[in-house]
Amino acid sequence: MKTTRAGDWMDVNPNLSEMDFTQFHLRVSTERYHAREYLMRERERLWMRVWQIAGRANEIPEAGDWMEYRLFDQSWILVRGRDAKIRGFVNSCRHRGNQLCRGRGNTARFTCRYHNWTYGLDGQLLAVAKPDFDAPLEEFVGAKQDLGLLDVPVECFGGFIFLNPDRNAAPLAEFLGGAADALAPYHLEDMVPVGLNVRERLECNWKVVMDAFGEGYHTQGVHPQLISVVNLGQERFHRYRDHGVSTAPFGAPALAAFDAERQVEAYMKLPTDSFPGFIDVLPRFAARVDRFRDPAGALNFPPGTNARFLLQQATRDTLTAKGLDVGGLTDCQMIDYQFWLFFPNIFIQVCAGETTIIMVEPDPEGDPNRCFWRVMFMQFLPPEQRAAQYTPLREIPEGEHFPYFLALEQDFEQMPVQQTGLRNSTLGHLVLTKQEPRVAHFHAALDRWIK
Ligand code: FES
Repeated sequence: MKTTRAGDWMDVNPNLSEMDFTQFHLRVSTERYHAREYLMRERERLWMRVWQIAGRANEIPEAGDWMEYRLFDQSWILVRGRDAKIRGFVNSCRHRGNQLCRGRGNTARFTCRYHNWTYGLDGQLLAVAKPDFDAPLEEFVGAKQDLGLLDVPVECFGGFIFLNPDRNAAPLAEFLGGAADALAPYHLEDMVPVGLNVRERLECNWKVVMDAFGEGYHTQGVHPQLISVVNLGQERFHRYRDHGVSTAPFGAPALAAFDAERQVEAYMKLPTDSFPGFIDVLPRFAARVDRFRDPAGALNFPPGTNARFLLQQATRDTLTAKGLDVGGLTDCQMIDYQFWLFFPNIFIQVCAGETTIIMVEPDPEGDPNRCFWRVMFMQFLPPEQRAAQYTPLREIPEGEHFPYFLALEQDFEQMPVQQTGLRNSTLGHLVLTKQEPRVAHFHAALDRWIK
C-alpha cells in the first residue's frame, strides 16, 4: 500500500503555467512599501496580533537562559524555566514599568535594578525590597501572585520559538494549519546553524525581502549562474492558510533530453558554494553512477533510471548513513528545494538535510524604507555533532557588511534598488506575473490582516 506523505502534492499539483489564477490579485499597491502610515497599520493589525518567530529554541538551551525579543518599541523576555519550558513575558517590571533586561544571558531570577523587585523564571513575583515597610502592599495594589510578569503566548515548532503579542491569541497550531505537517518530516528542530548565522540591516522595506525570496522569476536577471540549478519551467505551488510554498526540480531544465553522461555532468558542475550540503552527497552519487559504466567507462542508464533518480538515492543514502531520519520525505524532497513564504516574515528554503532561513524584521524606529534580516544556513546533523558545528548569531554593526555567498550578495544589492523605485509616489501599484503566485498569496494574506 502506498504511504501518503506530506510532500506528495509535489507530484500532483499543476505547473504554474497550468494553474488557475482567477483567485489571485496580481496588482499590489506600492504605498505598503514606503508609507509610514501603512507601517503603523501593520504594527497594530498584523505584528501585534500574529504568531511570529522570535528565535531558535537552541539559543536558550539551559534552564535560566534568556533572550530579549524586540519588535518596534516593544520588548519581551524569552526564558527557559527549570521545567525546560520556554515562556515569554513583557519586558517591564510590574512596579513602575522599568525594563528588566536587554540582550541575552543566564540567570536564576530577574531582579529589577530600579527598586530590586525580583521575579522567578516562571514570571512569579518572588520578593519586594523592604517588605516590612511595604507590608500593606497587598492592601493597596493587589496580591503578590497577581503582580508577576505579564506573560504572552509562546509555543515551539520546528525548533523555532513562536511568540504572539496578543495575550488572547488562538493556538499556534491553528495559525500553522497544514504547514506543520508539511514541514515536520524535515526535522527542522534538529537542525543547527552551520557557517552562516547573521543579522544585518537592509535599506528596504521588510516586504521587499519577502517578495524577492517569493519567486524564482528574477533568477534570469539577478542570478544568471543559477539558471542551470532549478528547473523553474516545472515550478509547482501549494498553499497552507496564509503560508505559500513552491518547488521545482533541482537540475538543468533540459535534463530529460540529455544523454547519461551529460545528465551527470549537469549535476557535477553545479555551484557548490551555494549548496554546501550537496558536497557530502557527491561521492555516493558518483559511486551509484559508476555502477552503470561498462568496462570501457561508457555510461548508459537502463530504462527507468536517470541521474536525477540516482542523486535522490545518493542523498537518502548519505543522510541515512549518518543515522538521520528522512523516511517521511518523498524522493523529490531529497533534492528539490521547497521555497516557503512563511507568513508573515520568514523565508524557508529546505530540502532533505538542510535549510536556509531568512527572517525579516521591520525597522524598530518605524522607518518603512529599512529593515533587518537574519540569515541562517542550517544542517540536520547527528546529535553528537551539533554542539561542535553550531555557529552562534553574529550581529553586523551599522555601516559594516557581511560577505555572503554570491547569490545572497546579489539579492542584498538588488533589494535597495527596488525600494528606491517603489518610493516614486506616481507608481501607485506594481503588477505580478503568473510566475509569482507566492508573492500574490503573501500580499492577499497581508490584505486580510490589514483591512
Ligand atoms: Fe522595578 Fe521599581 S520599577 S522595582
